[in-house]
Amino acid sequence: MSQVHINTQDAKPFVDTDLAEKYSSQVNEIIKDMEQSTDDPGSFLGWLNLPEEIDNELLENIETTARAFRDKYDSVVFIGIGGSYLGAKAVIHALSPFFKKKDKNIPDIYYAGHNLDEDYHYELLEELEDKDYGVVVISKSGTTTEPGIAFRILKQHLERKVGKEEAAKRIIAITDKEKGALRTLANQEGIKTFVIPDDVGGRYSVLTPVGLVPIAIAGINIRDLIEGAENMRHTTTSDIEFEKNPAAIYAALRNELYKQGKSVEILGIYNSKLRYVTEWWKQLFGESEGKEGKGIFPATVEFTTDLHSLGQYIQEGQKMHFETIISLYSTENCLTVPSNEEDLDNLNYLSEKRIHEINIMAEAGTRLAHTDGDVPNICLALPANNAYNLGQLIYFFEKACAISGKLLGVNPFNQPGVESYKNNMFALLQKPGYETDSEKYLDIINEQRKDNKFF
Ligand code: PA5
Repeated sequence: MSQVHINTQDAKPFVDTDLAEKYSSQVNEIIKDMEQSTDDPGSFLGWLNLPEEIDNELLENIETTARAFRDKYDSVVFIGIGGSYLGAKAVIHALSPFFKKKDKNIPDIYYAGHNLDEDYHYELLEELEDKDYGVVVISKSGTTTEPGIAFRILKQHLERKVGKEEAAKRIIAITDKEKGALRTLANQEGIKTFVIPDDVGGRYSVLTPVGLVPIAIAGINIRDLIEGAENMRHTTTSDIEFEKNPAAIYAALRNELYKQGKSVEILGIYNSKLRYVTEWWKQLFGESEGKEGKGIFPATVEFTTDLHSLGQYIQEGQKMHFETIISLYSTENCLTVPSNEEDLDNLNYLSEKRIHEINIMAEAGTRLAHTDGDVPNICLALPANNAYNLGQLIYFFEKACAISGKLLGVNPFNQPGVESYKNNMFALLQKPGYETDSEKYLDIINEQRKDNKFF
């Protein structure tokens, strides 16, 4: 099988140090330390050996449940936010057709609980009115507001449509083994559940039921995904020397670029099916590293579209960024530019060329231009857009992110900053037990309500 690999030739000239000499022993210590700490429940390192440790019985249970879902319902709604949503969406979006479903047995897929947009939820209910659907609700804490609200709305909608008893059979809850409101509700109402392991945080949870259940329902082979991840795990252990460990190289290189003033990393793709892989990456690195006043800001672009917007800034704007490109080597289909005798559009120089070849030339041309414009470029080669290679890529990023966070001196597995907005929002919504010291905001909101400015 072809391997995901890293090419640093267009970034190394921008760092004035020998990466292996400077980083190999420190990175090796970090990896060893993680390998030795997996048994510590507080370490949040459950993801590290997950690809090889995942239980076959659990996989069979997921596959059987997914098959039954596909056979019974024409649609499914996945409810979740952040790490309880992005990993599954990344893989499903990457491996599903752009337009019409090719396999009629795959349900139409909808997402909910990832925003508080009233119109989105209203229109979703309208859309589901004529659908025969099931629901998968995912929340590790079981108390997150956005998925909580979406679940309440959809559960009620489903109960009205098919009755309470049947609705309970159409719901799967993925949550903590004992804590949280979702666990209590699921236990009380006899809803089927899958457990999120205690020692795996949301953004590292693609290879737990959080990612695997939705991915399997979407008809994707989860064993290939796991096999790819397992392969990458082998390639990134402490036994592998620095120069052969892609996660070590990526983490060290971005750390060095950061020290040299590059505070923004732009992750770019040239193939739209990878769009949510970049969204998942953004959350993984942003939430893992952005703390204590430190961290590279993760930004994403979709080329060639964004070459006609952000391309200008990347080329000639302030130079605080470096670029990482996921370079997809192959496509599933083949399409060439037709020749045309009249050539009124002057495109005959491209006649019979594959679109993919033109895309590759756009990528190469951009890389040359951006490196000429002082933008270091890291290339991650993805041989094919399939479950195996995506499994490799996911594990590669998880491992690199953990190493990177530790090089930076932050805890890559917590997200204390996320609580601040929640506390304010809860206080403003007068959730029992929450108070805000900013009384003035409540006054402003109340004033606006009175004048009916918002509602
Ligand atoms: O990575 C994380 O830990 C977060 O993004 C969570 O996944 C997100 O906040 C959702 O949390 P929960 O699964 O508890 O609803």
